[in-house]
Amino acid sequence: MCGICGYIGKNNGIDEVVQGLNILEYRGYDSCGIAYLENKKLKTIKTVGGVNNLSNLSKSMSANIVIGHTRWATHGGVNERNAHPHISSSKKLAMVHNGIIENYKELKEQLDVNFCSETDSEVFLNLIDSEEGSLVEKVIKASKKVQGTFAVIVLAENGEVVLGKRESPLYLSNMNGEIFIASDVLALKGEYFYSLNDDEFVSIKDFKILFYNKNGEIIYKKQEKIEKNEVLPEIFYKTHMESEIYETKNVLLKTLKEYKCEDIFSNIKLPKNFRSISLIACGTAYHASLMGAEYFKEIGYDARAYLASEFRYGRELLNKNTLYIFVSQSGETADTIASAKMVKSHKLYTLALTNTPNSLLNRICKNVLPTFAGREIAVASTKAYTCQIWSLYLFSLYLAGKKLPSEKKFANFPFTTFDETYIKEIASYKKVFFIGRDLDYITAMEASLKLKEISYINCFAIASGELKHGTLALIDEDAVVIAICTQEKIKTKLISNLEEIKARGGKVIVVSQFDDFKDFSCVKLSKFDELFMPIVSVIPMQFLALRICEFFGYNPDKPRNLAKSVTVE
Ligand code: M6R
Repeated sequence: MCGICGYIGKNNGIDEVVQGLNILEYRGYDSCGIAYLENKKLKTIKTVGGVNNLSNLSKSMSANIVIGHTRWATHGGVNERNAHPHISSSKKLAMVHNGIIENYKELKEQLDVNFCSETDSEVFLNLIDSEEGSLVEKVIKASKKVQGTFAVIVLAENGEVVLGKRESPLYLSNMNGEIFIASDVLALKGEYFYSLNDDEFVSIKDFKILFYNKNGEIIYKKQEKIEKNEVLPEIFYKTHMESEIYETKNVLLKTLKEYKCEDIFSNIKLPKNFRSISLIACGTAYHASLMGAEYFKEIGYDARAYLASEFRYGRELLNKNTLYIFVSQSGETADTIASAKMVKSHKLYTLALTNTPNSLLNRICKNVLPTFAGREIAVASTKAYTCQIWSLYLFSLYLAGKKLPSEKKFANFPFTTFDETYIKEIASYKKVFFIGRDLDYITAMEASLKLKEISYINCFAIASGELKHGTLALIDEDAVVIAICTQEKIKTKLISNLEEIKARGGKVIVVSQFDDFKDFSCVKLSKFDELFMPIVSVIPMQFLALRICEFFGYNPDKPRNLAKSVTVE
C-alpha cells in the first residue's frame, strides 16, 4: 500500500523520484522520503505528510541515483523515524520497502543492531547487510529468511542498486540510459518496461542491468509495452473522485464498445457445462460481485459472492464445474490475490475482472475480462464499481446467449446527483442508516461504505426486512434513514418499513424513480431498465458521500487511514 520509486541516470534523480512519488501518492500518504548519494555517503530526506513537503525540502538539490518511498503505516507510528528510506546500521545501505515481513520479530532478536525505527523494513535491511557476498547475493540470501511480502530497492554507498520482490509489484524501464523503477507502471517513463516475478532480483551497476532468479542464476527477461492508458488522468473537477464519478457514462460506453468489437467474451475458457459461478473480492469490488451474482442467478446459474479475506480460509468445496471470478479494480488486493492463487493451485477455472492491465491478478488467472474504467486514483472507488457491475451484467448476457445492448441506450443515460439541500441536514445526524431490499440492499451496502470511508460518519446498511429484527431499536430523532427503492416488487413492503421509522422519530429520505413516496423527502431518479438501476441509483449515493466529505472539509481523494491498493492482508 506504499509507493516506491527509483532513478539512475544523468539527470536530476531527486526531481525524477519526487515526480514519481507524486504519482504514487494515492497508494499511501502518511509520510515519505528519499535517499541519495552525496560524496559517496548515503543521505536521506524524510518528512511526515505528503510529497509536497518532500518537494519543498529537496528543492535545488541534485543527485543521479535516488530511491524514494511514500508510506502507508503498518509497523510503527507515522513519524520521520519510521518513514522510508532506512539506512542500515553500518550506514552502507539504504532501502525502501513495500510489503510486510511477518517474522521480523524473530529476525530482530537474531541481529546485533541498534534499530532506529519500529519497522519490519529496517530489520529486513539489516538482515541483508549482515549477509555475505555481493549486494545481490546478500539480498537473495536474506529474502530466503524472510516470511511475508516485499518489493525493495536497495542502494549501496558504492552506487550499486539491487531490486527484489515477492507478492508486491515492482517494475523498471530503461529509456536511453535512464533507469526508472517503480511499484506501479504509472510512475515509469519510456515505452517499454520489465515486470519482476516473485523471487526475481535485479542488480544495476554502472547502468548495466542484470536479472537473477532465486538461486542467484542470471536470467533473461523480455520487455513489455507500456499501455497507452498508463498515464495519470486529468482532473476536470475539484477532485479525482468527482471527476471519476462524472466519467461514469463514458467508461460504461467504452466498456460496451470494447466488448462488442473484440472477442473478449469468446476468448474466455469456461468449464464444460458449468452452472455455478463464485465471485471473490474485497470492499466495493465485493459489492459489485454481490450484484454480479444476482445477474448470474437471473439467467439460471448457481452464483455466490465471497469476501476474499474470508474465502481464502473458508471451507468452500472447490470444484471443476465452477467458474471463479476474481473482481478487483487494482488487480493487486492481497486477499483477492491469495484466494486466486489458492483456486489456481487446484487447477480450476479462474477469471480476473480487473481494471488494470498487467496486474498481478491478471497474471495469475487463466482468463482476463478487463473493465475499461481507465485509471482510478481516488481511494473511494466509483467509476470502477459501476463498470464492474456493467461488465458482469454484459457477461451474464453473453452467457445467456443474448445480444449486448445498443450504444444508443446511453444517449439517455440518467445521471442524478444527490439533492444539495439534504447534505447539511444528513451531516448533522448522529446515526445514518442505508436500507433497501434485493438489489437495492447491495446499493445500500455500497452507499454506506462510501460514506464512512470519506466522511468518517458511523453509518451502516441494513436489509429493510431486517430492521424489525434488531436495528429498529436504534431508530429515534437522532437517526436518518436513506432508503433506496428501484425495484417495483419491493415498493409496498418498503413503504411499511418507512412508516415504522417515521413513527419512531427517524428522518427518512428515499432515493427512487417511483412516485409512491410523496409522504417522504425524496431524491428522484430517472427511469431505466430495472436490472440497470443499481448503476443509476449508486451515482447519487456516491455524490452524497462526496458532498458530505467536502462539507466537513476533508479531502475525498485521500481519506485517513486508507490507501488505494490494499496489498497487505
Ligand atoms: O482494487 P480492488 O478493487 O481489489 O480494491 C478492493 C477494495 O480495497 C476497494 O474497493 C475499497 O473498498 C475502496 N476503497 C472502496 O471505495
